[in-house]
Amino acid sequence: MAASDASLSLSSKPTSEEEHLALLLDKYKNKLTTLPKQKGWMGETFYMYQGFWYRSSSPFSVQMTMAMQDSFKPHPTDIYLLTLPKSGTTWVKALMFATVNRATYNHGNNTLLLTHPLLVSNPHKCVPYIEQEFIKKTPTHVQEKPNPCLHAPPRLFSTHIPYTSLPRLILDSGCRLVYLCRNPKDVMVSWYYFSNKFPHEILTPMTINEMFEVFVKGMVPYGPYWDHVKEYYNASCEHPTKILFLTYEVMKKDTMNQVKRIAEFLGCPFSKEEEGNGGVDQIIRLCSLESLKEVNKDGEYGDGIPNAAFFREGKVGGWRNDLTDEMIKILDDITDEKFQDLDISF
Ligand code: A3P
Repeated sequence: MAASDASLSLSSKPTSEEEHLALLLDKYKNKLTTLPKQKGWMGETFYMYQGFWYRSSSPFSVQMTMAMQDSFKPHPTDIYLLTLPKSGTTWVKALMFATVNRATYNHGNNTLLLTHPLLVSNPHKCVPYIEQEFIKKTPTHVQEKPNPCLHAPPRLFSTHIPYTSLPRLILDSGCRLVYLCRNPKDVMVSWYYFSNKFPHEILTPMTINEMFEVFVKGMVPYGPYWDHVKEYYNASCEHPTKILFLTYEVMKKDTMNQVKRIAEFLGCPFSKEEEGNGGVDQIIRLCSLESLKEVNKDGEYGDGIPNAAFFREGKVGGWRNDLTDEMIKILDDITDEKFQDLDISF
Protein backbone atom coordinates (compact mmCIF):
# COMPACT_ATOMS: atom_id res chain seq x y z
CA MET A 1 0.00 0.00 0.00
CA ALA A 2 1.33 3.50 -0.80
CA ALA A 3 1.95 5.72 2.21
CA SER A 4 -0.82 8.07 1.14
CA ASP A 5 -3.31 5.19 1.08
CA ALA A 6 -2.03 4.11 4.47
CA SER A 7 -2.69 7.50 6.03
CA LEU A 8 -6.16 7.61 4.51
CA SER A 9 -7.13 4.24 5.86
CA LEU A 10 -5.63 5.10 9.25
CA SER A 11 -7.82 8.13 9.62
CA SER A 12 -10.91 5.98 9.65
CA LYS A 13 -9.69 4.04 12.70
CA PRO A 14 -10.49 5.36 16.17
CA THR A 15 -6.83 5.49 17.31
CA SER A 16 -5.05 8.12 19.35
CA GLU A 17 -2.69 10.55 17.64
CA GLU A 18 0.29 8.64 19.06
CA GLU A 19 -0.96 5.36 17.60
CA HIS A 20 -1.74 7.06 14.32
CA LEU A 21 1.80 8.43 14.20
CA ALA A 22 3.41 5.12 15.15
CA LEU A 23 1.51 3.28 12.44
CA LEU A 24 2.29 5.93 9.87
CA LEU A 25 6.01 5.97 10.58
CA ASP A 26 6.24 2.20 10.79
CA LYS A 27 5.91 2.19 6.99
CA TYR A 28 9.33 3.87 6.76
CA LYS A 29 11.19 1.69 9.26
CA ASN A 30 12.81 -0.42 6.57
CA LYS A 31 13.98 2.59 4.61
CA LEU A 32 15.82 3.79 7.71
CA THR A 33 18.07 0.73 7.70
CA THR A 34 19.36 1.69 4.24
CA LEU A 35 20.53 5.19 5.27
CA PRO A 36 24.06 6.17 6.42
CA LYS A 37 24.07 6.83 10.17
CA GLN A 38 26.42 8.35 12.73
CA LYS A 39 26.43 9.66 16.27
CA GLY A 40 25.70 13.39 16.26
CA TRP A 41 24.13 16.12 18.37
CA MET A 42 23.55 15.07 22.00
CA GLY A 43 24.98 11.63 21.23
CA GLU A 44 21.89 10.68 19.22
CA THR A 45 22.04 8.53 16.10
CA PHE A 46 21.64 10.69 13.02
CA TYR A 47 20.57 9.49 9.58
CA MET A 48 21.66 11.04 6.30
CA TYR A 49 18.73 11.49 3.91
CA GLN A 50 18.88 13.43 0.63
CA GLY A 51 22.09 15.14 1.75
CA PHE A 52 21.01 16.19 5.26
CA TRP A 53 21.29 14.76 8.78
CA TYR A 54 18.12 13.89 10.64
CA ARG A 55 17.11 12.58 14.05
CA SER A 56 15.10 9.40 14.10
CA SER A 57 12.97 10.29 17.10
CA SER A 58 9.63 11.78 16.24
CA PRO A 59 8.11 14.11 15.39
CA PHE A 60 11.14 15.85 13.81
CA SER A 61 12.52 12.69 12.30
CA VAL A 62 13.67 11.39 8.97
CA GLN A 63 10.71 8.99 8.84
CA MET A 64 8.36 11.91 9.33
CA THR A 65 9.96 13.81 6.45
CA MET A 66 9.57 10.75 4.21
CA ALA A 67 5.94 10.32 5.23
CA MET A 68 5.20 13.99 4.55
CA GLN A 69 6.89 13.83 1.17
CA ASP A 70 4.40 11.09 0.32
CA SER A 71 1.24 12.51 1.75
CA PHE A 72 1.34 16.02 3.24
CA LYS A 73 -1.47 18.06 1.76
CA PRO A 74 -0.89 21.81 1.71
CA HIS A 75 -3.60 24.36 1.02
CA PRO A 76 -2.69 26.80 -1.77
CA THR A 77 -3.10 29.76 0.61
CA ASP A 78 -0.78 28.31 3.26
CA ILE A 79 2.20 30.32 4.44
CA TYR A 80 5.37 28.55 5.59
CA LEU A 81 8.25 29.83 7.69
CA LEU A 82 11.39 27.83 6.93
CA THR A 83 14.43 27.95 9.17
CA LEU A 84 17.20 26.01 10.75
CA PRO A 85 16.68 25.69 14.49
CA LYS A 86 18.17 28.59 16.50
CA SER A 87 17.94 31.07 13.64
CA GLY A 88 15.20 33.16 15.27
CA THR A 89 12.26 30.95 14.28
CA THR A 90 10.22 31.77 17.38
CA TRP A 91 10.54 35.52 16.85
CA VAL A 92 9.60 35.46 13.19
CA LYS A 93 6.73 33.05 13.89
CA ALA A 94 5.40 35.69 16.26
CA LEU A 95 5.91 38.54 13.77
CA MET A 96 4.23 36.66 10.93
CA PHE A 97 1.31 35.56 13.09
CA ALA A 98 0.75 39.04 14.46
CA THR A 99 1.00 40.59 10.99
CA VAL A 100 -1.28 38.21 9.15
CA ASN A 101 -3.89 38.14 11.91
CA ARG A 102 -3.71 41.80 12.93
CA ALA A 103 -7.31 42.54 12.07
CA THR A 104 -8.60 39.64 14.15
CA TYR A 105 -6.91 40.59 17.43
CA ASN A 106 -7.39 44.33 17.41
CA HIS A 107 -10.17 46.41 19.01
CA GLY A 108 -10.24 48.60 15.93
CA ASN A 109 -8.59 51.62 17.58
CA ASN A 110 -5.20 49.95 17.41
CA THR A 111 -5.57 48.37 20.86
CA LEU A 112 -4.67 44.73 21.12
CA LEU A 113 -7.13 42.32 22.66
CA LEU A 114 -5.83 41.12 26.04
CA THR A 115 -6.51 37.63 24.78
CA HIS A 116 -4.13 38.06 21.83
CA PRO A 117 -2.55 34.59 21.47
CA LEU A 118 0.94 36.11 21.70
CA LEU A 119 0.06 37.62 25.09
CA VAL A 120 -0.93 34.26 26.50
CA SER A 121 0.99 31.54 24.67
CA ASN A 122 4.20 30.47 22.99
CA PRO A 123 4.55 31.53 19.31
CA HIS A 124 5.17 27.86 18.54
CA LYS A 125 1.53 27.24 19.48
CA CYS A 126 0.36 30.00 17.13
CA VAL A 127 2.43 28.77 14.18
CA PRO A 128 2.82 25.01 14.50
CA TYR A 129 5.37 22.86 12.69
CA ILE A 130 3.97 20.96 9.71
CA GLU A 131 5.06 17.79 11.47
CA GLN A 132 2.55 18.61 14.22
CA GLU A 133 -0.16 19.34 11.68
CA PHE A 134 0.60 16.18 9.75
CA ILE A 135 0.07 13.86 12.71
CA LYS A 136 -3.37 15.30 13.33
CA LYS A 137 -5.99 12.97 12.02
CA THR A 138 -8.14 15.92 11.04
CA PRO A 139 -6.27 18.76 9.34
CA THR A 140 -6.66 22.24 10.78
CA HIS A 141 -9.53 23.85 8.95
CA VAL A 142 -8.76 26.96 7.02
CA GLN A 143 -10.12 29.79 9.18
CA GLU A 144 -13.81 30.28 8.57
CA LYS A 145 -13.72 33.99 9.27
CA PRO A 146 -11.85 35.39 6.26
CA ASN A 147 -9.01 37.71 7.12
CA PRO A 148 -9.98 41.14 5.75
CA CYS A 149 -6.44 41.96 4.69
CA LEU A 150 -6.12 38.89 2.49
CA HIS A 151 -8.27 37.46 -0.25
CA ALA A 152 -7.96 33.94 1.13
CA PRO A 153 -7.65 32.88 4.76
CA PRO A 154 -4.15 31.48 5.25
CA ARG A 155 -2.88 28.83 7.61
CA LEU A 156 0.58 29.53 9.03
CA PHE A 157 3.06 26.72 9.47
CA SER A 158 6.76 26.26 9.93
CA THR A 159 9.34 23.59 9.21
CA HIS A 160 13.09 22.97 9.30
CA ILE A 161 13.02 20.54 6.35
CA PRO A 162 15.67 21.38 3.72
CA TYR A 163 14.54 22.67 0.33
CA THR A 164 15.51 19.42 -1.44
CA SER A 165 13.23 17.38 0.79
CA LEU A 166 10.30 19.74 1.20
CA PRO A 167 7.05 17.98 0.28
CA ARG A 168 6.79 18.83 -3.43
CA LEU A 169 3.15 19.93 -3.20
CA ILE A 170 4.22 22.84 -1.01
CA LEU A 171 6.36 24.09 -3.87
CA ASP A 172 3.91 23.25 -6.62
CA SER A 173 0.85 24.91 -5.09
CA GLY A 174 0.50 28.64 -4.54
CA CYS A 175 1.94 28.59 -1.00
CA ARG A 176 4.27 31.40 0.05
CA LEU A 177 7.52 30.62 1.81
CA VAL A 178 9.62 32.79 4.09
CA TYR A 179 13.17 31.59 4.83
CA LEU A 180 15.13 32.99 7.76
CA CYS A 181 18.84 32.42 8.26
CA ARG A 182 21.33 33.61 10.88
CA ASN A 183 25.08 33.86 11.28
CA PRO A 184 26.33 30.29 11.81
CA LYS A 185 28.43 31.33 14.82
CA ASP A 186 25.37 32.67 16.64
CA VAL A 187 23.33 29.64 15.55
CA MET A 188 25.97 27.29 16.96
CA VAL A 189 26.20 29.12 20.29
CA SER A 190 22.42 29.34 20.55
CA TRP A 191 22.23 25.58 19.91
CA TYR A 192 24.72 25.02 22.73
CA TYR A 193 22.66 26.92 25.31
CA PHE A 194 19.37 25.48 24.09
CA SER A 195 20.65 21.88 24.10
CA ASN A 196 21.56 22.16 27.73
CA LYS A 197 18.01 23.17 28.63
CA PHE A 198 16.74 19.67 27.81
CA PRO A 199 16.00 17.61 30.93
CA HIS A 200 19.18 15.63 31.62
CA GLU A 201 17.32 12.36 31.90
CA ILE A 202 16.23 12.78 28.24
CA LEU A 203 19.45 14.02 26.63
CA THR A 204 22.99 14.24 28.02
CA PRO A 205 24.29 17.83 28.17
CA MET A 206 27.07 18.83 25.76
CA THR A 207 30.16 20.94 26.24
CA ILE A 208 30.73 23.81 23.83
CA ASN A 209 33.58 21.82 22.25
CA GLU A 210 31.26 18.89 21.59
CA MET A 211 28.63 21.21 20.16
CA PHE A 212 31.23 22.81 17.90
CA GLU A 213 32.40 19.42 16.63
CA VAL A 214 28.94 18.17 15.66
CA PHE A 215 27.96 21.54 14.18
CA VAL A 216 31.01 21.67 11.92
CA LYS A 217 30.36 18.10 10.78
CA GLY A 218 26.75 19.06 10.05
CA MET A 219 25.42 16.50 12.51
CA VAL A 220 22.79 18.67 14.07
CA PRO A 221 19.10 18.34 13.17
CA TYR A 222 18.69 19.25 9.47
CA GLY A 223 22.42 20.02 9.08
CA PRO A 224 24.79 20.83 7.51
CA TYR A 225 23.88 24.44 8.21
CA TRP A 226 25.66 25.77 5.09
CA ASP A 227 23.89 23.48 2.61
CA HIS A 228 20.49 24.25 4.13
CA VAL A 229 21.00 28.01 3.78
CA LYS A 230 22.53 27.75 0.32
CA GLU A 231 19.69 25.70 -1.11
CA TYR A 232 17.03 28.12 0.10
CA TYR A 233 19.08 31.12 -0.96
CA ASN A 234 19.39 29.78 -4.51
CA ALA A 235 15.71 28.81 -4.59
CA SER A 236 14.71 32.31 -3.45
CA CYS A 237 16.75 33.80 -6.31
CA GLU A 238 15.05 31.46 -8.74
CA HIS A 239 11.53 32.00 -7.34
CA PRO A 240 11.52 35.47 -5.74
CA THR A 241 7.75 35.78 -5.68
CA LYS A 242 7.41 32.46 -3.91
CA ILE A 243 10.32 32.48 -1.44
CA LEU A 244 11.36 35.50 0.63
CA PHE A 245 14.89 35.19 2.03
CA LEU A 246 15.56 37.01 5.31
CA THR A 247 18.43 37.20 7.77
CA TYR A 248 18.13 37.53 11.53
CA GLU A 249 20.79 40.24 11.45
CA VAL A 250 18.87 42.51 9.07
CA MET A 251 15.65 41.75 10.97
CA LYS A 252 17.32 43.00 14.16
CA LYS A 253 18.84 46.07 12.52
CA ASP A 254 15.81 47.22 10.58
CA THR A 255 12.84 45.42 12.08
CA MET A 256 10.33 48.01 10.90
CA ASN A 257 11.16 47.72 7.20
CA GLN A 258 11.56 43.96 7.37
CA VAL A 259 8.11 43.53 8.95
CA LYS A 260 6.64 45.72 6.21
CA ARG A 261 8.50 43.63 3.64
CA ILE A 262 7.06 40.42 5.11
CA ALA A 263 3.54 41.88 5.10
CA GLU A 264 3.86 42.90 1.47
CA PHE A 265 5.24 39.54 0.46
CA LEU A 266 2.39 37.77 2.23
CA GLY A 267 -0.16 39.88 0.41
CA CYS A 268 -1.28 41.96 3.41
CA PRO A 269 0.71 45.20 3.22
CA PHE A 270 0.28 47.81 5.93
CA SER A 271 -1.77 50.77 4.78
CA LYS A 272 -0.40 54.30 5.19
CA GLU A 273 -3.03 54.78 7.88
CA GLU A 274 -1.90 51.68 9.80
CA GLU A 275 1.69 52.82 9.56
CA GLY A 276 0.76 56.30 10.72
CA ASN A 277 -1.24 54.91 13.65
CA GLY A 278 1.71 52.90 14.91
CA GLY A 279 0.32 49.56 13.72
CA VAL A 280 3.74 48.22 12.77
CA ASP A 281 5.37 49.44 16.00
CA GLN A 282 2.69 47.70 17.97
CA ILE A 283 3.46 44.37 16.32
CA ILE A 284 7.20 44.85 16.85
CA ARG A 285 6.61 45.57 20.57
CA LEU A 286 4.27 42.61 20.95
CA CYS A 287 6.93 40.32 19.45
CA SER A 288 9.94 41.82 21.19
CA LEU A 289 12.23 39.55 23.13
CA GLU A 290 11.21 41.28 26.36
CA SER A 291 7.51 40.79 25.76
CA LEU A 292 7.74 37.17 24.58
CA LYS A 293 10.14 36.34 27.43
CA GLU A 294 7.68 37.68 29.99
CA VAL A 295 4.70 35.80 28.51
CA ASN A 296 6.73 32.59 28.32
CA LYS A 297 8.60 32.76 31.60
CA ASP A 298 6.70 29.76 32.96
CA GLY A 299 5.33 26.58 31.53
CA GLU A 300 6.59 23.91 29.25
CA TYR A 301 6.78 23.64 25.48
CA GLY A 302 6.85 19.83 25.48
CA ASP A 303 9.32 17.00 26.18
CA GLY A 304 10.32 18.79 29.37
CA ILE A 305 11.66 21.83 27.51
CA PRO A 306 10.67 25.05 29.31
CA ASN A 307 8.98 27.73 27.19
CA ALA A 308 11.68 30.10 28.47
CA ALA A 309 14.38 28.09 26.64
CA PHE A 310 13.42 29.78 23.35
CA PHE A 311 14.22 33.27 24.62
CA ARG A 312 17.79 34.01 25.67
CA GLU A 313 19.90 36.99 24.62
CA GLY A 314 18.69 37.57 21.08
CA LYS A 315 21.92 39.36 20.15
CA VAL A 316 23.80 39.70 16.91
CA GLY A 317 27.41 38.69 17.53
CA GLY A 318 26.86 37.15 20.97
CA TRP A 319 29.22 34.35 19.81
CA ARG A 320 32.19 36.58 20.71
CA ASN A 321 31.75 35.63 24.36
CA ASP A 322 31.70 31.90 23.79
CA LEU A 323 33.91 30.81 20.87
CA THR A 324 37.70 30.42 20.87
CA ASP A 325 39.80 32.05 18.13
CA GLU A 326 40.33 28.64 16.59
CA MET A 327 36.59 27.91 16.47
CA ILE A 328 35.94 31.31 14.91
CA LYS A 329 38.54 30.73 12.22
CA ILE A 330 37.22 27.29 11.32
CA LEU A 331 33.61 28.50 11.11
CA ASP A 332 34.59 31.60 9.11
CA ASP A 333 36.66 29.56 6.67
CA ILE A 334 33.81 27.13 6.00
CA THR A 335 31.34 30.00 5.61
CA ASP A 336 33.62 31.90 3.21
CA GLU A 337 34.08 28.82 1.09
CA LYS A 338 30.48 27.63 1.06
CA PHE A 339 28.91 31.08 0.63
CA GLN A 340 31.42 32.53 -1.83
CA ASP A 341 28.80 32.87 -4.59
CA LEU A 342 26.03 34.06 -2.30
CA ASP A 343 25.20 37.65 -1.51
CA ILE A 344 24.70 37.14 2.24
CA SER A 345 26.48 39.18 4.86
CA PHE A 346 25.96 38.79 8.56
P1 A3P B 1 20.06 33.32 21.37
O1 A3P B 1 20.21 31.94 21.93
O2 A3P B 1 21.26 33.75 20.59
O3 A3P B 1 19.67 34.33 22.37
P2 A3P B 1 14.83 29.69 17.43
O4 A3P B 1 13.57 30.42 17.72
O5 A3P B 1 15.05 29.44 15.97
O6 A3P B 1 14.98 28.49 18.29
O7 A3P B 1 16.02 30.70 17.81
C1 A3P B 1 16.27 31.04 19.15
C2 A3P B 1 17.07 32.33 19.15
O8 A3P B 1 16.21 33.43 18.83
C3 A3P B 1 17.64 32.62 20.53
O9 A3P B 1 18.88 33.28 20.31
C4 A3P B 1 16.60 33.56 21.11
O10 A3P B 1 17.05 34.35 22.17
C5 A3P B 1 16.25 34.40 19.88
N1 A3P B 1 14.95 35.06 20.02
C6 A3P B 1 13.80 34.55 20.52
N2 A3P B 1 12.84 35.48 20.52
C7 A3P B 1 13.38 36.60 20.01
C8 A3P B 1 12.87 37.93 19.77
N3 A3P B 1 11.63 38.23 20.08
N4 A3P B 1 13.70 38.82 19.21
C9 A3P B 1 14.97 38.50 18.89
N5 A3P B 1 15.52 37.30 19.12
C10 A3P B 1 14.72 36.35 19.68
